[in-house]
Amino acid sequence: MSVTVRVPAKVNVQLAVGGARPDGFHDLANVFLAVGLYDEVTATPADELRITCEGPDAGQVPLDRTNLAARAAIALAARHGLAPDVHLHIAKDIPVAGGMAGGSADAAGALLACDTLWGTNASRDELLGICAELGSDVPFSLVGGAALGTGRGERLRALEVGGTFHWVFAVADGGLSTPAVYGEFDRLNEGVRVPEPVASQELLDALAKGDAVALAAAVSNDLQPAALSLFPSLSDTLEAGRAAGALAALVSGSGPTTAFLARDADGAAAVAQALLASGTCRTARVAPSPAPGATVL
Ligand code: C5P
Repeated sequence: MSVTVRVPAKVNVQLAVGGARPDGFHDLANVFLAVGLYDEVTATPADELRITCEGPDAGQVPLDRTNLAARAAIALAARHGLAPDVHLHIAKDIPVAGGMAGGSADAAGALLACDTLWGTNASRDELLGICAELGSDVPFSLVGGAALGTGRGERLRALEVGGTFHWVFAVADGGLSTPAVYGEFDRLNEGVRVPEPVASQELLDALAKGDAVALAAAVSNDLQPAALSLFPSLSDTLEAGRAAGALAALVSGSGPTTAFLARDADGAAAVAQALLASGTCRTARVAPSPAPGATVL
């Protein structure tokens, strides 16, 4: 018997970042939107914990216990007095190290798959608690949809979304490390008093109305200057998307994936084609939002 769970990627339509906290993390007002690019995690009983991965970027995924999916299985097993003897197979479609929470998605997927396979029947709160221990973005990967994340991003409030938004994601050649991007944010803000992060009401209203033009006017990412500083060629990708008619162009999370909001599905296809032709990215993917959270197939 095996259990497969499908988990979405995310884009941050607002990522407001406060100053560094004593624990090194940053307080956030983080508006997550799950998008229809998915990884699938399959859990099968095995003699010992084993990870395999397939997909175009599979070579970049660690297959040892540092993989967040392995850590999810270990955390759940430990709480229930079990051995984490499971084979986790990841069918990877979310860009790796791209700022789209692919690793977090695999952790949430592994957790739900193991909970189902082992019959541990953890409550939603227990699963969310384990997710928060694994990483700031992992709880959102479990719940999906749209949510405001506060604290370091792990405290979630579900948000209403009144329609479908159409996105294009330009995948860069190479990755960015999230801690490095936060480190660059700190360096760029040295000596500056960073304001408390607050969610934008205009942005929440645009999401609730399903209004792409209003959402485009309200999107923001405080990590974008840091990502551009570490990966300057991303500004060419952003410009190519804007020139192709995207309503908004921004770095996704800590990057280096860039996200483009289109007016509709046809607009997204046109922006994707133009981005590919521009030669400023490795590949371009279209995806609608919102998307459901981790789901047992
Ligand atoms: O929580 P997660 O493991 O995804 O965070 C990875 C790194 O990103 C942290 O070690 C920290 O450097 C940075 N981070 C942060 N503030 C947050 C979330 C992440 O500084 N709210």
